[in-house]
Amino acid sequence: MVMTNALDPSSIVAIIGSGAMGAGIAQVAAAVGHPVILHDTRPEAIEKAIGNIRKTFRMLADKGRMTEDAAVAASARLQAATHLAELADARLVVEAIVENQEVKRGLFADLEDVVSEDCILATNTSSISITALGAKLRHPSRLVGMHFFNPVPLMALVEVISGLATDSRLAQVVYATATAWGKNPVYAKSTPGFIVNRVARPYYAEGLRILTEQAGEPATIDAIMREAGGFRMGPFELMDLIGHDVNFAVTQSVFQAYFNDPRFTPSLLQQELVNAGFLGRKSGRGFYPYGQDTAPPQPQTEAPQAAPQQLTIMGSGAVADAIASRIAAAGMAFVRVDAPQANSGLLECGGAVVHLTDGRSATQRASDTGVANTVLLDLALDYASASRIALAAADQCDEEAYRAVAGLFQAAGFAVSRLNDVPGMAVMRTVVMLANEAADAVNQGVCTAQSADVAMQKGVNYPRGPLAWADAIGLDDVLTVLHNLAGTYGEDRYRVSPLIQRKVASGARFHS
Ligand code: NAI
Repeated sequence: MVMTNALDPSSIVAIIGSGAMGAGIAQVAAAVGHPVILHDTRPEAIEKAIGNIRKTFRMLADKGRMTEDAAVAASARLQAATHLAELADARLVVEAIVENQEVKRGLFADLEDVVSEDCILATNTSSISITALGAKLRHPSRLVGMHFFNPVPLMALVEVISGLATDSRLAQVVYATATAWGKNPVYAKSTPGFIVNRVARPYYAEGLRILTEQAGEPATIDAIMREAGGFRMGPFELMDLIGHDVNFAVTQSVFQAYFNDPRFTPSLLQQELVNAGFLGRKSGRGFYPYGQDTAPPQPQTEAPQAAPQQLTIMGSGAVADAIASRIAAAGMAFVRVDAPQANSGLLECGGAVVHLTDGRSATQRASDTGVANTVLLDLALDYASASRIALAAADQCDEEAYRAVAGLFQAAGFAVSRLNDVPGMAVMRTVVMLANEAADAVNQGVCTAQSADVAMQKGVNYPRGPLAWADAIGLDDVLTVLHNLAGTYGEDRYRVSPLIQRKVASGARFHS
């Protein structure tokens, strides 16, 4: 790979748009030593941004996270420009203005009359094609996507996006510069949603789907996603934070940009929240109420049940081993069958057979196996340390048999949440769909598997990259879950990425 140098710190960086993103980018560039020129059509926005950044540098110095001298020097590097002509000496211009293709195109056309030929033009757009933004330029090869995440000083990810005409050497300079700024860049091809805003769609969509199918209350699903899935926030609290207007608009824009691919179909439930003005935290109500005296709703958690007298753990494997250790640590005796019959389940207790979900509902699985007392276990990021687990019982399952299973997991130290019997449950369904989308992005040459995983960990704080997670689950099991979801719903939404099928067929993984 050609190693290209980052821009020298003495190079002038200009930022256009002094809102939330522009101010963050300016702060980062000034902190590493660039003279930074901030421009905005509203002079008061520039003054406000520069004032706030200087305040931040002072605060960082007070806290000892920056030396006094460095804070003073970084503050002095910030300069306001009320006219575009003042950007003439910039080596890199990062545009972070209003998300409108025509306005951005107009700005870049004006800029080309001002800056030198070797000035790199970068855009922080989150949804507009880099190819389209560059098309009208005299030198379309100089436009690169430089997509930061909010809040810029804290989020490490930068997607470095090439349009059809982008000069790959300039993308490399932007990549190296982002690295020099302490960021974690990844390359991406200009396609709707780039990496993060595309691959993250199922995190919201599958949550909304299982909520629509009455799998459980938002607080319950959120708690499962956090405490079993290891995600920092559940989908509903996260959508409430982002704002349903914003989240719904992104979903709609990705859906339309992919010519109404059912993968990205927006949710009627979320549309209703937008219709009602229940936009989340900012409006005081979304999935949750946010009044001053409102107690947050609690997740459904099973009341303590008696632990079963007998337990058989079938075979070995990561899930069986982790559960066996927790049960042993709780002082409970169990029998272990080393070579169980095929399809025997993960464990048996209280007359119930417990399986890890394979994308069929418990009810369907009970019917297929002829075992009425079938209980399903959801995926956990780490069964050894998860504090909560989700269970679902078949409609045919005897209540006492289900309670024995709940008692077993409680004895092993899990809080147990019962989901209504939806196919794929919560964590498994979400994670396989995240992996499926990431696999399609890789298959279509948008990014590498490594970049997809880094992007989701650094851009939206996922506890594990979706493709590494799929490797850990086992790609044949991921394929089975997706096939079963596709079979149940008969919707193109759940079609399996050709790359997952190919990996399973050859026995390969995403990461060696
Ligand atoms: P913002 O609304 O906070 O700031 C935009 C600024 O651009 C305003 O100060 C406005 O006066 C200025 N502006 C508008 N038209 C202009 C023009 N023609 N010339 C100069 N200045 C102009 O917006 P925000 O949130 O900072 O977003 C900026 C860009 O970054 C958008 O393209 C957005 O899609 C993208 N982005 C936003 C993220 C976010 O979480 N807010 C995350 C990643 C990208």
